[in-house]
Amino acid sequence: MIKAAIVGMGHWGQNLVKSVQGVSSSIQFVAGATRTPAKAADFAQLHHIKMGDSFEALLADPEIDAVVLATPHSMHTDQIVAAANAGKHVFCEKPLALDSVSAKRAADAAAQHNIVLGVGYNWRFQPALQEIRRMIDDGRLGKVMHIEGNFCGPSAYRFPKGHWRHEGDESPAGGMTGRGVHVIDAMMYLAGPIDQVTAQSLRIAQDFGSDDTTSMLLHFAGGSTGYLGTVIATAETWRMQVFGSNGWVQVGDVEHLNTWELTTCMIDRTNVTNKQRPVTTSFPAVSTERAELEHFADCITKRQAIVTPDGDAVRNAAVLEAIIQSSTTHTTVKLA
Ligand SMILES: NC(=O)c1ccc[n+]([C@@H]2O[C@H](COP(=O)([O-])OP(=O)(O)OC[C@H]3O[C@@H](n4cnc5c(N)ncnc54)[C@H](OP(=O)(O)O)[C@@H]3O)[C@@H](O)[C@H]2O)c1
Repeated sequence: MIKAAIVGMGHWGQNLVKSVQGVSSSIQFVAGATRTPAKAADFAQLHHIKMGDSFEALLADPEIDAVVLATPHSMHTDQIVAAANAGKHVFCEKPLALDSVSAKRAADAAAQHNIVLGVGYNWRFQPALQEIRRMIDDGRLGKVMHIEGNFCGPSAYRFPKGHWRHEGDESPAGGMTGRGVHVIDAMMYLAGPIDQVTAQSLRIAQDFGSDDTTSMLLHFAGGSTGYLGTVIATAETWRMQVFGSNGWVQVGDVEHLNTWELTTCMIDRTNVTNKQRPVTTSFPAVSTERAELEHFADCITKRQAIVTPDGDAVRNAAVLEAIIQSSTTHTTVKLA
């Protein structure tokens, strides 16, 4: 049983705790630290979490194996490095960092101190997305040619003026930082590294805060193309559609992050003009938060790396950085 401490007990920190507390046999939260402990006192008591306001005290506590960071984006890198220096395993919410140098610094610190660093890209634990990966691996989907994705919702309205989410250095390129990075991670899981982006990012709905309308064209090193949009001043929706040379598959808009469906439409090779009806398959309910935390615990037990200096989480930060650069310079940006 990995004994973990939650750092940041806001909306998502509490969600992560609830996903495993009392139900997982591989990870449990025993302690926590947050900026304003009084706001989370009832929650901590309910879940038997010893509360404090000092991150440093958690790092010095020999009872704690791992820290789980659910803090504002700009705090992630320094907190990961501090935890690695203290010999604690770290699970950090997305994004791992806001630029590639910081992401690499975090991953290097984990490698240097031989601790496991996980990152909250929970889309990878969606059963339907994992089925798409299998369809690519075993050839059913054919060659991946193009991926379309979006992840939208009312975040710009949900966070009031002055909230950290609206600050330019916490949410550069609008919904990309909070939402779009999930889709980028899922796209790279299916189609490999991205080597070129062209982006535009605007604030249209409100007269304050982060951009609310961000869209981008992507090119993958393996030859596929893609596009992604994130609009954060509209109703909640998400979708990812993968076009292969044998047909297309789509995930999206299920009861959020718990029940999973895959819609498939394959070409009839005996008559390619024969219009096929899409077929929807359901998968058993899975909590992707529980799955990612249990995977993290399992990797600690096996001493198996998750985030590595040359892996997808660091590449994701480089893609985010390229999107920010492209949208501010109005140019196409190539990635190494
Ligand atoms: N994987 C997912 O699908 C998903 C979904 C949502 C969020 N997230 C991620 O989870 C992380 C936390 O997001 P959230 O929605 O939980 O945010 P939140 O509700 O605002 O919570 C942030 C927490 O960090 C604490 N904190 C410490 N220093 C802070 C500072 N300088 N400014 C503001 N807060 C500070 C806050 O303390 P106070 O109690 O004093 O406010 C609060 O407990 C982010 O990385 C976010 O992207 C992931």
